[in-house]
Amino acid sequence: MKLTTYCFSPTGTSRKNMMAVVKGLNPSNATHCDYTYNNIKDEGTLGAEDLALFSVPVYGGKVAPTALERMAQVRGENTPAILLVTYGNRNFEQVLVQLADFVRERGFRPIAAAALVGEHSYSNAQYPIAVGRPDAADLSSAEEFGKRIADKIQDVDKEAWEIDIARDMPQLETPEASLQAFVAFVQEYTRQQQANPVKIYPAAAPEACIHCSVCVELCPTQAIVVGCEEVTDATRCIRCCACVKGCPTGVRTFDSPFAKPLSENFQMRREPLYLL
Ligand SMILES: Cc1cc2nc3c(=O)[nH]c(=O)nc-3n(C[C@H](O)[C@H](O)[C@H](O)COP(=O)(O)O)c2cc1C
Ligand code: SF4
Ligand code: SF4
Repeated sequence: MKLTTYCFSPTGTSRKNMMAVVKGLNPSNATHCDYTYNNIKDEGTLGAEDLALFSVPVYGGKVAPTALERMAQVRGENTPAILLVTYGNRNFEQVLVQLADFVRERGFRPIAAAALVGEHSYSNAQYPIAVGRPDAADLSSAEEFGKRIADKIQDVDKEAWEIDIARDMPQLETPEASLQAFVAFVQEYTRQQQANPVKIYPAAAPEACIHCSVCVELCPTQAIVVGCEEVTDATRCIRCCACVKGCPTGVRTFDSPFAKPLSENFQMRREPLYLL
């Protein structure tokens, strides 16, 4: 079976998780379509004998919108698909259901799904959130999941492969106090935001920028221009934090107001969840 992967992963955790699953699948033939930096041209329609794998991050309880925009032209014809979402240790809510609807509309049928954990994009030294995830245990668990999918698709009854994510996907539990504290923060933030929108990347010490352009290369939406790297085009920025995590001098920072409440309320270790 030929595998085609479709991935969007600004800070690399969705890609890492995906590659661990691919390792377990051990396909004889794989094509990787990475939509993080470019809109990839039409790859052609996959057939019922192919296998597709989608891997995307969770943004605000939804699939990252840029991922869906870039993957809009992907097509299958009754093609089995593995769906992976990676989230930053808060919650993935109904994101797998959303992704399943998206791929079904394009001719795929979900046969396996996973909610995997990655270091939160907003995590920093002051407010750590799921630092270093996916770690060795996560990757080995994802690889094992890949092996289990490889076993499953040996079954000749292909109709039996299909899964019902809305009905069967396990959901997370959050302690009531953490949930209430976070919801209260979001409500207050939303109220204040209307009057006082936060600034992206206050250039605290722009002179420290060495103009290495690493941030330009890492930015999925071309919000940074070579030669003026200390500036961000707020209209293009999706706040993915790829530039922040990759900047060697620490000039690029994003003081997300969400970092503190996320770090305070979501320290409990979330484990990967699977549906097969
Ligand atoms: C704008 C934005 C919104 C996010 N929303 C959520 C969320 O709702 N729940 C969650 O657990 N993590 C959330 N995260 C964290 C990411 O899902 C997480 O860091 C993921 O590992 C990033 O994937 P990537 O490394 O492939 O870019 C959000 C991150 C960003 C940038
Ligand atoms: S990565 Fe940092 S140091 Fe390099 S150009 Fe960008 S802002 Fe400047
Ligand atoms: S400028 Fe915005 S979109 Fe570009 S890498 Fe940085 S956070 Fe992501």
